[in-house]
Amino acid sequence: MDKLWAGRFQKQLDEQANDFNASIHFDSRMYKQDILGSLAHVSMLAAQGIVTEDDCEQIQNGLSGILADLEQGALEIDCASEDIHSFVETELVKRIGDVGKKLHTARSRNDQVALDLRLYLLEEVKEIDALLRGLIGVLCAKAEEHAETVMPGYTHLQRGQPVTFGHHLMAYAQMLLRDIDRLKDCARRMNISPLGSCALAGTTFKTDRAMTAKALGMTDYTRNSMDGVSDRDFAAEIAFCTSMIMMHLSRFSEEVILWSSWEFKFIDLDDAYSTGSSIMPQKKNPDIAELVRGKTGRVYGDLLALLTMLKGLPLAYNKDMQEDKDAVFEAVDTVKMALGVFAPMIDTMSVRKENMRAAAEKGFITATDCADYLAAKGLPFRTAYKITGEIVAFCIQSDKTLETLTLEEYQSFSDIFETDIYDAINLETCVKNRTSAGGTAPQSVLEQVAYVKQAVSE
Ligand code: ARG
Repeated sequence: MDKLWAGRFQKQLDEQANDFNASIHFDSRMYKQDILGSLAHVSMLAAQGIVTEDDCEQIQNGLSGILADLEQGALEIDCASEDIHSFVETELVKRIGDVGKKLHTARSRNDQVALDLRLYLLEEVKEIDALLRGLIGVLCAKAEEHAETVMPGYTHLQRGQPVTFGHHLMAYAQMLLRDIDRLKDCARRMNISPLGSCALAGTTFKTDRAMTAKALGMTDYTRNSMDGVSDRDFAAEIAFCTSMIMMHLSRFSEEVILWSSWEFKFIDLDDAYSTGSSIMPQKKNPDIAELVRGKTGRVYGDLLALLTMLKGLPLAYNKDMQEDKDAVFEAVDTVKMALGVFAPMIDTMSVRKENMRAAAEKGFITATDCADYLAAKGLPFRTAYKITGEIVAFCIQSDKTLETLTLEEYQSFSDIFETDIYDAINLETCVKNRTSAGGTAPQSVLEQVAYVKQAVSE
C-alpha cells in the first residue's frame, strides 16, 4: 500500500521496518475519534472558505459512510495501512476520489493523533468513572448492612481496636471517591483540542481552531502549536489515575485474600468469583482478587513506560510518542476489567460475622478503652496507659483476658476500677461510643454512607 508520504521516496519501506513502524494494530481502536476529528476539521475548512461547501459535503458524506460501515462491520480496517489516520484518508480517496485529498489541508497526523488520543481517553474516563460509582454503590449497600458488624481493626496487621465492617468498607469508598475526583481533574486538562497545530508551527491558512474545538465538545484549544503536538501529559496523567485506582483495588484485594483464608475466615467468596486447584480437591482460591493485585504492576509499568518515553524527547513530535498508545490503552483496559469483576465479587461475597466477632474478642483489642476508662475518671492518660499495659501483661501471664479478669484483680492495679469497667470494655460499647466524626460507630457509618451517596450522585 502506498504511503501518504510516498512522493519523496524512490523505494518502498523494507518489510520488517514497515511492520516495526506501523501502529495500525493498536491505533485502529481510535477510528471513530479520527473520523469525528476529520468531520469537524472539514466543516471548519468550509466555514473559513478554505474548501468549497460542495467539497466539504462530499468529504463529510464519505467520512460518515466510512464510520457507518466500520460500525456495522461492512468495512474492515486494512492492517496493511501504516496507521488509522492513513487508513481513513486512503479509504476516503478510494470512495470519493481526489476531492478526498483536500481533507488534509491545514492539519497533520501529529495533531490528528494528539486529538484522537484525547478524545478516546475522554470516553474511557467516563467508563471508568461509571465503574467506580458502581463499586462505591456496592460498598455503600454492604456497609449499611454491616454498620453494626464488629470486627478487629488492625495496625501492623495486629489487632488494634474493634471497628465495624461497614466502617472498614467505607474507607475504600473514600479512596474511590478521590479516584473519581482525580479522573475528573485529569479530564479537564485532556478536554482541550490540539487540532490545527499542524505539523508543529501552525499554518498559513486562516483556520478557526476555536470552531473545531467547540464542534468536538472540547472546552478550549491548545495555545502553542509545538506543545499541542508534543504534549502527552494527559496520557501520563490518566496512567497515574489508573495506577492509583489499581493500588486501591490491590490493597482491597489483599484484604479479600486474607479474609477468605481459613486463618481469618471473615468472608466467603461466591463460587462465581473463586477457582479451584487441579490437585488439591478442597481448595477454593481467590484468583480474581489475586489477579487484580497482580495486574496492578502492569498498570504501574504503563505509567513508567510513558514517563520514560517522554523524558528525553526534544520538541516537537517524535515517533517515540507512538509508544504512548499501547501503554495507555493497556492501563485503561486493565483498570476497566479489574473494576468490572471487583464490584460483583464484593457484592456476592458472604460475611461471617461470628468469625469477625470471635477474632475481635481475642488479643486485648479493647485495651485502649480500658485506658480511656481510667483517663475519663481523672487519671492522666499516660498513667492510665501504663497501668493498662501492666494489666495486659498480667493477663498474658495468667492466661486471662480483660473480660475474665475479676474486679479484685482490676483493683489490685488501680482502685479507680469499678464494675462499670466491664461495660467500658464491651466490644459493642467500644464501637458504639466511637461517634467522633469519621469514627467507627454504626451511626457514623450510616452518616458516611449518606455522605458518599450524595457525593456520587453529583
Ligand atoms: N502513528 C503515529 C503515532 O501514533 C501518528 C503520527 C505520525 N506522525 C508522523 N509524523 N510520523 O504517533
